[in-house]
Amino acid sequence: MYEICLIPGDGIGQEVVPAARRVLEGTGLPFEFVTAEAGWATFERLGTSVPAGTLERIKASHATLAGAFTSPKKSVPGHFGAIRYLRRELDLFANLRPAKSRPVPKGFPGVDMLMVRENTQGLYVAQERRYDDVAIADAVITRQASVRIAKVALEQAQMRRRKLAVIHKANVLPLTTGLFLETVMEVARDYPEVECYDIIVDAAATKLVRDPESFDVLVTTNLFGDILSDLMAGLVGGLGLAPSANLGAQHAIFEPVHGSAPDIAGRGVANPTAAILTAAMLLEYLGERAWAERIDRAVDAVLASGPLTADLGGDASTEAFTDAVVAALAD
Ligand code: NAI
Ligand code: MG
Repeated sequence: MYEICLIPGDGIGQEVVPAARRVLEGTGLPFEFVTAEAGWATFERLGTSVPAGTLERIKASHATLAGAFTSPKKSVPGHFGAIRYLRRELDLFANLRPAKSRPVPKGFPGVDMLMVRENTQGLYVAQERRYDDVAIADAVITRQASVRIAKVALEQAQMRRRKLAVIHKANVLPLTTGLFLETVMEVARDYPEVECYDIIVDAAATKLVRDPESFDVLVTTNLFGDILSDLMAGLVGGLGLAPSANLGAQHAIFEPVHGSAPDIAGRGVANPTAAILTAAMLLEYLGERAWAERIDRAVDAVLASGPLTADLGGDASTEAFTDAVVAALAD
């Protein structure tokens, strides 16, 4: 029996997490689902975006599937972003964001790459200060955190096409991103079968758009990884298709790359593909690789034949698309 914690969260999270749950149930594997809450609506109701009970449920489960959490653009006293808090609290140091070509309109063909984003440091330590018209943010990089993310990226590369691009800005920030680059390159010496090379982040952005087929695994610091993984999602069909995993030594939270999409929330039109592919990553983590692959194929079959959701030019509802995936899974 697998105990899965579901945290739908805000906005379209409430729509895509139930869709992903239906696909998980469609496998017939023995799941026990528990639901927990977190996010902006939780903060408004309870004064905290992650209640203690939610943290306990995540810890007690084999894996967690989260939807999305709204964060205000201005700082609100007492509020902290739910996903950033959970990543830090559970030490989910590796954020895996695959981007693979799918049979969709406006998707770049021939792409199959994986972003391994350091998930706990960099500018995301969110140590900001403001003095009137001057604002300062700290970026933290440590050797220890760089070693462990390097190992994850190199191990992923070993299981794939054995190429690793290390993305940095050491020409301008030699102490912080330079330490990251130097450390990853050192760890890479223990993985001689992986071809490891470095690219400066701005050049990487151009190369990702012009020559995405050349990439296999990419590893980088937190903020660069956040931005480039959205770019990668855009290349292969948009945020509606992009899954991700937050992995630590003890716990794991799986979540689509997209946010709560307030512009379309509540209308039942969100694309659940990202959440469904996220559920497939969760199954792979549980050791159910064959089912993960079957879900991947079922999603591709529906993307190829339709019906499609509005973000991909169709008019199917979240539910109709999910029905089609569940049916394809049974084929
Ligand atoms: P977003 O990802 O929510 O939306 C960006 C655009 O993509 C919107 O036009 C939206 O309609 C579209 N989109 C996203 N997912 C879609 C899907 N599954 N199907 C169809 N269209 C989809 O990013 P945005 O607008 O910048 O942020 C909205 C809220 O979400 C903010 O409060 C932000 O802080 C939060 N957010 C949360 C994340 C998380 O929980 N990990 C990640 C990114 C944003
Ligand atoms: Mg993001």
